[in-house]
Amino acid sequence: MPDDSPNLFEIIATTRSMRRLKPDPVPSELIRKILEAGVCAPSGGNMQRWRFLVIRDVKVKETVGAYYKRAWDEVVSPRYRGGEPSPGTSRERFSRMLDAAQHLADHIHEAPVWIVPCLEGANPSRTAGSSIYPAVQNMLLAARALGLGATLTTLYLSFEKEVEAAFGLPPDVHSYALLPIGYPLGRFGPVRRVPLAEIVYEDRWGRPFSEASEG
Ligand SMILES: Cc1cc2nc3c(=O)[nH]c(=O)nc-3n(C[C@H](O)[C@H](O)[C@H](O)COP(=O)(O)O)c2cc1C
Repeated sequence: MPDDSPNLFEIIATTRSMRRLKPDPVPSELIRKILEAGVCAPSGGNMQRWRFLVIRDVKVKETVGAYYKRAWDEVVSPRYRGGEPSPGTSRERFSRMLDAAQHLADHIHEAPVWIVPCLEGANPSRTAGSSIYPAVQNMLLAARALGLGATLTTLYLSFEKEVEAAFGLPPDVHSYALLPIGYPLGRFGPVRRVPLAEIVYEDRWGRPFSEASEG
């Protein structure tokens, strides 16, 4: 039988934020596979101070979802709507992305499962983040490979204290993202990024990278 499952590079190139999700439950074995992929990631000294909260509890999702929506409606949405589109994107495409983000803000509590990656350690920082975001990306890729949609979200951090209290985190544990996961309503498509020629330099800052173009 031919294996038509996408290869790693196809998975990487089509792991985009899937913000419109069906409320249908996700089988536990798929969540387990996503978590197994997460913990294959590196962490500093292999200390694995990561902890993962899998949330299906409707009340917790509603409480945190309300904070997420406030952060979106009051802070992030007005900033993006009033600003420039992201690099390499048309205003129209950017506006469609913001519509999807609005949908997520309105419906995040309906995503059947959330994974909240956390780290032990009182001081969230760039160094600390380096030991959790590789696991986060592994989980996003694994979800995509399993046909599940997900989005890396952090804007709930505008209400970090309130949200971490709702999650019941101890004082020396912090959350680094909230991944709403479910079967996507739309189709996976290619991610859109600026070309390498615009962002990669060779040997010296500003010197064009000679292998930036294809072929
Ligand atoms: C650090 C970080 C935080 C993000 N936070 C949010 C968020 O709170 N809400 C959201 O809808 N998307 C969030 N995103 C998703 C980005 O908006 C998205 O990855 C980007 O627009 C590129 O789109 P794509 O993932 O569809 O390719 C976040 C992404 C990153 C890397």
